[in-house]
Amino acid sequence: MRVLVTGGAGYVGSTTVETLHEAGHQVVVLDDLSTGHREAVIDGVELEVGSYGDAGTLARVLDHHKIEAVLHCAAKSLVGESMVDPAMYYRENVGGGVVLLEGMRLAGVGRIVFSSTASVYGIPDHTPVTEEMPLAPINTYGETKRTFEQGMRWYGNAYGLRSVIFRYFNVAGATKRNGEAHSPETHLIPNVLRAAENDTEMTIFGDDFATPDGTCVRDYIHVLDLAQAHLLALEATDPGDVRTGPAGGPCEPVICNLGTSKGFSNREVVAVAERVVGHAIKHRIGPRRAGDPAVLIASSARAGELLGWRAQHETLEEIVGSAWEWRRRGHNGR
Ligand code: UFG
Repeated sequence: MRVLVTGGAGYVGSTTVETLHEAGHQVVVLDDLSTGHREAVIDGVELEVGSYGDAGTLARVLDHHKIEAVLHCAAKSLVGESMVDPAMYYRENVGGGVVLLEGMRLAGVGRIVFSSTASVYGIPDHTPVTEEMPLAPINTYGETKRTFEQGMRWYGNAYGLRSVIFRYFNVAGATKRNGEAHSPETHLIPNVLRAAENDTEMTIFGDDFATPDGTCVRDYIHVLDLAQAHLLALEATDPGDVRTGPAGGPCEPVICNLGTSKGFSNREVVAVAERVVGHAIKHRIGPRRAGDPAVLIASSARAGELLGWRAQHETLEEIVGSAWEWRRRGHNGR
């Protein structure tokens, strides 16, 4: 299949591109390189530098490459930034998203898989979090993802767009070639590993949460498992596949959480990282970070039932170990 991956030079995008390419799909990346890295795009995959929110660029790329399905990974995705510049998040994630949906409709591309987030649930009142639980985002980032999810739904209703929405929990780890290289880096695992590398001190945000050791608990999913789920989801958007709707539509998005249904506290993450790197990592306890729910654990039953997906790299040692290996190899120049 000819697949366009928006944001395919970013962390999740680039690792998923590797999996799609290995599975034999013809992959094209559309990325404006505002946060992505040119070096993350593997050989054999064409990079189009530009924005999915630019109607002209999008129309040309969809037509030129005869695209059949889109994997929409591109987005603004920093919670803190979204709170101080909501306009940018609405412009890119919602406004740009509508340009993408409309461009796909005009080009006759009726299949999409979307990278959404557990942030759409806000602070869930219980875990594990199932897909039916109320959507109540507590930041602009989550709100814009929820809004785009709804847009997909109405496009499915009106035009028979076939879609899968993945609500990611905490994605981590690396492939041999690609890993997480954000600037600024806000995520726990890269920050812990950077402290290990540079012999600097990292901060755990809060130890007074209602959890066994007082620090927040998260559900970490290996980026390779996430990529595998995207491969299965793209197959499920086939026009003959009843999972994404009846022939001719209307279609409802298939919505799946992606996590492993296991939780690790921030202290546990540091302890695992210390075992992986083979020495103590300097850390201190600081104040809570605004907007952090105490516990976020996914129910990932639906992805298993509907897509036949199962996490293969479930241990935190494996996840952190892959990220550490990637960093030791020099982050591919990033
Ligand atoms: N944390 C620290 N120190 C750091 C960085 C993070 O203690 O230097 C803590 C956070 O406070 C939180 C935990 O580590 O308790 C995980 O934080 P991350 O920033 O790594 O991830 P989040 O859980 O905040 O967010 C991630 C994604 C979001 C997604 C969310 C849903 O980045 O896009 O998971 O679960 F919405």
